[in-house]
This record gives sequence, C-alpha cells and structure tokens, in this order.
Amino acid sequence: MEPGEPTRRPGGARLRATLRVLAELGPSTAGWMVLGSLRQALRARAEADRLAVPPPDSGQGPGALEELTEEADAVVARFARATLTLAFLAPDCLLLEWRRRAAPEDPPPSLLAGDRARERVTPTRHPSAEGVLELDAGGPLRVRLGADGTLVVLDGAGEVVRVDEPPCWREAGWSARWACPPGALVTGLGLQAGPLDRRGRRYRLWNLDPGGSWGPDAGPLYCNVPVLLAVDGARSLLDVLDTSEALEVDLRSPGSGWVGAPAGPLRRVLALGRPPLLLERLAELTGPPALPPRWALGYQHSRWGFRSAATVAGIRAGFAACGLPISAIHLDIDHLAGYRVLTADPKRFGDLPGLVRGLAALGTRVVTIVDPGVKVDRGFGLFRRGVAGDRFCRTPRGRLAIGVVWPGRAAFPDFADPAVRDWWAEEVAARLRTSGVGGLWHDMNEPTCLRVGAEPRLPLATRHRIDGQVYDHAALRNRYANDMNEAGFRGSRLARPEARPFVLSRSGWLGGQRHAWHWTGDAETSWAGLRQQVAAVLGLGLSGFPFTGSDVGGFTADPDPELYLRWLQFAVFVPLLRTHAMIGLRPREPWRWPEPFRRAVASWIRFRYRLLPLLLGLAHEAAEQGAPPVRPLWWPDGEAAAELGDDAFLLGDDLLVAPVCTPGARRRALRLPAGRWVGAWAGSSPTALAGRTVVQLGAPLERLPLAVRAGRILVLDDAWADPQGACQLEGDEALGAEDRAWTRGTLDPAHVPGCWALHCWPAEDPEGRAAGAEGQALDEAGDGHGPVRLDHYRLAGVAEDGTATLAWERTGTFPPPASVRVVVHGWAVERALADGRPAAVEGGTVRCGPFDELVLVGLRRRAAAPSPAYHLD
Ligand code: GLC
Repeated sequence: MEPGEPTRRPGGARLRATLRVLAELGPSTAGWMVLGSLRQALRARAEADRLAVPPPDSGQGPGALEELTEEADAVVARFARATLTLAFLAPDCLLLEWRRRAAPEDPPPSLLAGDRARERVTPTRHPSAEGVLELDAGGPLRVRLGADGTLVVLDGAGEVVRVDEPPCWREAGWSARWACPPGALVTGLGLQAGPLDRRGRRYRLWNLDPGGSWGPDAGPLYCNVPVLLAVDGARSLLDVLDTSEALEVDLRSPGSGWVGAPAGPLRRVLALGRPPLLLERLAELTGPPALPPRWALGYQHSRWGFRSAATVAGIRAGFAACGLPISAIHLDIDHLAGYRVLTADPKRFGDLPGLVRGLAALGTRVVTIVDPGVKVDRGFGLFRRGVAGDRFCRTPRGRLAIGVVWPGRAAFPDFADPAVRDWWAEEVAARLRTSGVGGLWHDMNEPTCLRVGAEPRLPLATRHRIDGQVYDHAALRNRYANDMNEAGFRGSRLARPEARPFVLSRSGWLGGQRHAWHWTGDAETSWAGLRQQVAAVLGLGLSGFPFTGSDVGGFTADPDPELYLRWLQFAVFVPLLRTHAMIGLRPREPWRWPEPFRRAVASWIRFRYRLLPLLLGLAHEAAEQGAPPVRPLWWPDGEAAAELGDDAFLLGDDLLVAPVCTPGARRRALRLPAGRWVGAWAGSSPTALAGRTVVQLGAPLERLPLAVRAGRILVLDDAWADPQGACQLEGDEALGAEDRAWTRGTLDPAHVPGCWALHCWPAEDPEGRAAGAEGQALDEAGDGHGPVRLDHYRLAGVAEDGTATLAWERTGTFPPPASVRVVVHGWAVERALADGRPAAVEGGTVRCGPFDELVLVGLRRRAAAPSPAYHLD
C-alpha cells in the first residue's frame, strides 16, 4: 500500500478479526464458544434484572430528616429511609456515603486502599440559613446539607460548585443526579471511546471486551474507572465512586449529570482544587501508581504470531543490525503449550530460559502473556492445583464456573479472594524464577469468555469470595483485573524482590494503577483510531492511570507506512511504547518499511531513548504525586479546558506534542495553551509563540510538531541522538559517532549514567534578551530501590557582555553522569568555564564533566535559518 493511501475500511476489521480468531481456535473450541454463546443469550433476560439501574427520578428518596449526630470526625444524618455519613479526609476532600436503612446485604469492601482514605479531619459545623447545616474542615471545600438530603458543594468563597440532589432507590439499585456549571469540561471514566470531554454522552461502566476491534463509537471497553473530573480552574471537582457495580453515567444534558448502580451503597469522595492537586488526591485515595523499572519506558515490540524462539531471536538480531535499541519483546499466546497459561510450547519455545538469558545480555527483557483462564485439563498441573486448593470461581450450585477462551474450556481463579491471590502469586513467582521472564502481560482479564452475539463474560450469578463472604460476579466483575494484577505484581516481587515489577493489563478499575500499566486493547487500525488514542491516553491519565499506551499501528489491520509512522511519532511521547498487532497481519519491524519510512521509524525509536531521563523523572512524579506524564494542554491551571481540545498534549509540563492524525497532512493547526512556546526541532523558528493563539504548525512526514515552554531546561540522553535522522535538535551536529550508543548496536542492561545533555530553551525578556531558563531532573539505577539523585538547573539571563551562568544543584547520592553537554537553543557559546576550569566548546555547545557552576562566555544568537518545513507561524 502506498503512503497516504487510506487504510482498508475499519468496518470490515471486526469481521476479519473474528474470522482470524475462529481459524486460530480450531473446531472444538469454536464449538464450545457457540454453545456458550447460546447459553449466555438465554440467560440475558434473567440477568438484565441484576444489572438494572433505576431510571432517573424513579424510586424513593431518603425521606424526612429524623436525626443529626456528630460522631468521631463524622456527621451522620438519619433520614426516614437512608443514612448519610459525611467525613472530611482532608480540608479539600469529603467522603460521603448513603446507605438504605434496610440494606439487604453487606457490600464488598471499599476500593479506597490509599492512606488518605483512612484519614479524618475534624469538621467545623456552621449554621446555615438555607440548609440544616454547613460543614468545612478549614479548607476550600464546604458542603451544605438540606433537610431533604440535597448536598450543595461550595468553594472557599461560598460560591456553588455543584448541587447533588438526594439519591433515589428502587429495589437494590440507586440513582443520583447533580447540577453543575454547563461550561466546565468533564472527563475521567477511564478508557472510553470518543472525546476526552465526556459531556454529551451516556456511559456504561462495565468492563467488556468489545470484540477484537474498537474505534471512536465503541463502548463499553475493557478499563472503566468510576472517576469524574469537572475541570474549572481552582474550582475543579473530583468525584470518585467507590463501588465495583456496573454503573451508568449520563452526561448528556448540559449543566447536569446522573449516575446509577444496580446495587450497593452510594459511596463517593469529592475533592476540590486544581487538577494536579486532584490527581494527587486520587492517588492518595486509591493508592499510588507503582514505580516502573526504567526499561519499561524504552521501546517494546510485540505481535500475535511470533511462532518460535528462533523468530524472536532473529528479531532481536535485526534490531542490533540496524543499531536500534529494544527494551522488551512480548510473547503472545502462541508461545504457550496448547494455550495453557504459565507454560511454554516444548517444541517451539523449548528453551525459554535460554532465550530470555540471551536477550537479557543484550538489554532486552521478555514479557509473556498471562490470561486468567486456566485450561480445564486434568493433565495440567496448574489446573489440578487450582481445583485441589479450591481456587476457582464457582456456580451457585458449587460447580466450577467454566468459560471458553483460547485453550477451550477454562476455569477462572477467584482473584477477589486474598488466599487465591497468594496462591497465584506463588505460581507466578515459580514460573518467573524458572523462565527468567521479565514482565507479565495480563490479557482477557475483564475476564472475557469468547462469545458470538452475547456479552463475552461469565454468568452474573458466578460466585466470588472475599474472606469467606460470597458475592456475585455482577458485584465484583469490574475489579477482577485489579485483583489479578495485584497477584501478578506480588508474584513478580516474590521472584525478584530487588526488581520493580512490570505488569501490563488490558482491564482495570478504580485503583488499577497500583499494580499495572494499561494498554488500550484492540485499537482499530485507522486514522480515526489513531486520533482516538490521543484522547484515550489522556482520559486514562486523568482517571488516575498514568502508565498507558496503545498498539502502535493499531491492532486490527495493516497500517500503511504513513499511518504507522504517525502513530509511532505520537506513541514515542506516551509511557507505553509498544508495537503490537493481530495474528495474520504483516510484520512491523522497523526494517520492514520502505524508505523513507524505514529511516524515520529508526530515528523515532532512537529519539524515545533520548527522552528517557525526562520519562523516568515523570514516572517518579506519577508514583509520588499521581500526575500522569501525558497531560492535557490545560493541565497546569485547568483554565479554558473546554477550548483547548484533546488532539495535542503536554509530556510533563513543558513539552508540547501535536500528533498528526490526518493522512497526507504536512501542517496542522493548534490552539496553544497559556505561556510562550518555542519550536523544539532544529530548523524551527527561534521566535517564541504566544500562548492562547491558534497557530499553524509545520508537520513534514518525518516529524510531528514539538514545542518547548520558553524558559525551561530539559535533560535528554544524547547518546541516542541521530544527527542525520528525522529527529534532529539544534546542536546535534556537534555530536561525533563515538558519542552515539546506538552505533554499538546493544543496549546497556544496567543503567550507568552516561552522557546527559542539558537542553536550555531560554525565555526572552520584553527587549528580546535571553532571560534565563530552569529545569529539574532525576536519575537512579532504573530498577530496584537504590539511591536517587535530584537535580535543579538554573540558567541566568544573558548579561550585556554576553555571559550567562548555569548553576547545577544536586541532592541525593546517585552519581552524576560522567559527561554533560550544554546546548542553549538559539544561542552559540564561544567559551565556557566549569567551576573555573575551561570546558570544551564544539559548534557552540559545551561539553564537560559535572559542575556546580558553568560560566558561558561570548554567547551570540545563532544565525536564524529556520527551515520552512518546521516553521511555527
Ligand atoms: C486479545 C488482546 C491482544 C492479543 C490477543 C491474543 O485480543 O487484546 O493484544 O494479541 O488477545 O492473545
């Protein structure tokens, strides 16, 4: 297919995917699948009741207020039919729980596993003219309770942020409505098709496999998260629904919202403040994202269809021959013995440990797929042990709950049960120890049972246990993946306590960030599919899932080279960079593409490694503060969110990435966020662009528009620079071949701090003089729990005599890089003194060892020769 030619119609992708899957399954499994589908279809009517959510405004409200009491750090309001408990977890964070007074059963335990969920701040009660009481905890969030159960959320100035009507109950289900400012963007909800702004649609939060392909109109998908974020500057509101029931959320009418569940209490946490603070609160409530190993931030390569160890070794050799780094290769279900999980086919992958060791020596990890379904086979040890230990989910009659997946009939570990998680962790650990495999890829963990024409899942009556208490599948399905991920994560820790686990999961729910990364599943290969991924990654990040990404090129079809390249350019700036595709498609190794794509693909993969210091710093930030590395353009302040769109993003706070999602496009328009922005590529115009304007950005095929916030310093690993390649930065011409790690063809498996480059993009004062720049970075060994070093850099403005000083403050004991390069974009340096000693200057850039103070002398503006192709105007 020629570049620019549209990819085949996405509509046919699902059919082709289904046919390929059927061919893979073989007649017996396909037969079981048809049978299972018929049974599932027959159950559908009876099951509909269990998932029924009362329609808006139906059922009964809480009734009249009977009693108001203050208990230890909580206020309890007893109404005729329901009880409301209000407790502050922080001055800006309120927990509220509505329970029917005649609740039929105990709900499953709370999903709020973070430290913040256990804290209580004593509230102050204020008299209220309009309600029965007002409460705050000395912070910006105040609530007013009405006699009918209405709750008004107010900000510190007493302005109304949201009005929650009292909930209504019918049978076991509840529904609740609220009114909010119509102008505020609403996001969250995890992985959803459609725009990042969730208003205007209705959502079903029920984890399901959409069936081998999804695009902009699909839903529900694999990884729903019951979190809403209404973005309105400092008055932004986070709303966390603490349940795993199948929720319905309706955001179709402007200025109001509605949520309902088929069962359980209405338990939610509201927090008020700017979006970065709210994401921090979310991580504190649900638990912090696990810090990943550094290698997981590199390039990962996968496909369904690496049929043998020799194929895999050949791919690794291909990367080496091209001077390309590759951090991980994923083995899909075809490496398994008859699709039995935690095995390897004895013929095709007979020496998996040998393969793993060989690749590890070159710095490449092997990640293997683990589905939850365990083949029903008395000859299979894992199945036998699972049955003997009573580890699998059961039907109400006590039989094994069986679903059809790749191995045919399969049993499903009851991961809700802590004892089952312990067992699974041991099984995983044993497998990791013997195979040496470096990471786990949890797929089909919604959990999915293959079906045609019926919901692909276990029956709702399937039983789960938590500490002896029994719950049905309807109540716990949405948290199944989280529980499996926790077990896999712990298994990884048991096998290698010194290493940071890497678990990649398809499904997830509230709190899923604690133990896993998530990818967006079987993304449709199309330009619309690519465009959709930008919003998808942003939406997951704003639901508390910082480490995500999509199958580069899309899962379902062969992308033309232009679509693949544009997808890769986007994915290089996203935490998970993994090429993956469905079985039967053309391979996507970098050398398979025709020129000029091949060179561009290689240059982009190298560029990813150049970004590693930045990505590692952002990974730490995510683990400590919940901030997603991929941020919407409105992230820093939450202002003008609805206008800034979701087709571009920030990596961190300072790097603006504008993906190209239109075939043949060589320019694109963008509304810049506040601030001043400078083109990052060599040849970009050196003049900063003012924020809050719409600009046209040059986007030649081999590059996407990339800009840096003026006044910032970014650290890049220039050992991966590719001076003749697509991803050139100013100053790269000073790099010699000996500087480049990639010319050696291997990846150093242990991170030794090599050559760092401090890329400074100075701001300008009103007279056009360079007014200085600042930045931070962090370094550490990249795996394990060793020392960390934090750097702070500050470049002073250029003085009249053409000098400027760059100060480097270090804290922490991890050693600094042996050599550094300093590039001041837009400026050439004549001489430099590092702590008083002369430093080498090549092509206007400085090279020296670590310093406390670097004096740059004879700074001159570089002759501006912007290339029209990369011009920002
Ligand atoms: C599912 C996964 C996909 C994987 C396939 C086979 O469709 O989403 O990534 O390749 O199963 O395991």
